[in-house]
Amino acid sequence: MTQHTKEEVLLQATDVQLTFDRSILRDINFCIRNITRPGVLQGQVVTLIGRSGIGKTQLFKILSGLQSPTSGQVTINNNKPVKAGDMGVIFQNYYLFEWRTVHQSLMLAAKKNKALFGREKQTIEQYAEQFQLTGHLNLYPQQLSGGQRQRVSIMQQLLKGSNFILLDEPFSGLDVCMLDKAVEMLLQVSLSDELKTLIIVSHDIENSVAISDTVYILGNEPGKEGATIKKEIDLIERDLAWQKHIKQERRFMETIEEIKACL
Ligand SMILES: Nc1ncnc2c1ncn2[C@@H]1O[C@H](COP(=O)(O)OP(=O)(O)OP(=O)(O)O)[C@@H](O)[C@H]1O
Ligand SMILES: [Mg+2]
Repeated sequence: MTQHTKEEVLLQATDVQLTFDRSILRDINFCIRNITRPGVLQGQVVTLIGRSGIGKTQLFKILSGLQSPTSGQVTINNNKPVKAGDMGVIFQNYYLFEWRTVHQSLMLAAKKNKALFGREKQTIEQYAEQFQLTGHLNLYPQQLSGGQRQRVSIMQQLLKGSNFILLDEPFSGLDVCMLDKAVEMLLQVSLSDELKTLIIVSHDIENSVAISDTVYILGNEPGKEGATIKKEIDLIERDLAWQKHIKQERRFMETIEEIKACL
């Protein structure tokens, strides 16, 4: 197993329930701890997997503070209840301000981050280079490809400086080449800061598991209404985390099969 320690709690979900006309989510309990590795700025990457309609997007909204649970709570940063705006949220359709250029949108995000004061322009240029968008800063979102929109959307959330970044289906609608780039980019983000924590909600089991340290499977249990976390898989313990060519390995594929069987 790769040498690491799990330190303080960064996010805690306690007894989260969500009920509309029926129970959607029940008894959701988990916590994300700060993982440290000697010599590496290792962030956290957690994936939530479940069948269509099970409640992933609802849980995503609760985790990001955009929706209150019926009962229970989600806390971050030393036990404070999460509220809207605390986390960087990247929706599936990469919502961007269509009437602003990429640079204008990014500047707006950078201005929200006090830690960047006076270095906004320089930081945007650095990120743009890293994300291969230098030549696109003065374009409008309609002039970008899907992959470029996605990168702008991620840059925007990174510039805001939140440690938590939630992504709903980050791999959908990307071609094979772009998919590899998106995977690479998310890995890069997760290694950019010790406290950076990505929470991915996805149908794409292979790609999301390949970059995660922990997987939670959301599902129903017999005789009970509402979805809960049926299984937690610690990929570090299985020696499946933080390895570049893990997708080709047999034990990785076995874990994928195990997850599919649990859905
Ligand atoms: N406002 C609402 N009122 C009642 N039920 C709702 C409401 N919003 C969502 N639901 C129900 O909550 C359940 C979970 O929906 P959710 O969007 O979280 O699913 P999901 O797991 O994200 O699915 P997918 O993978 O297809 O995106 C669904 O059965 C849906 O019908
Ligand atoms: Mg959904």
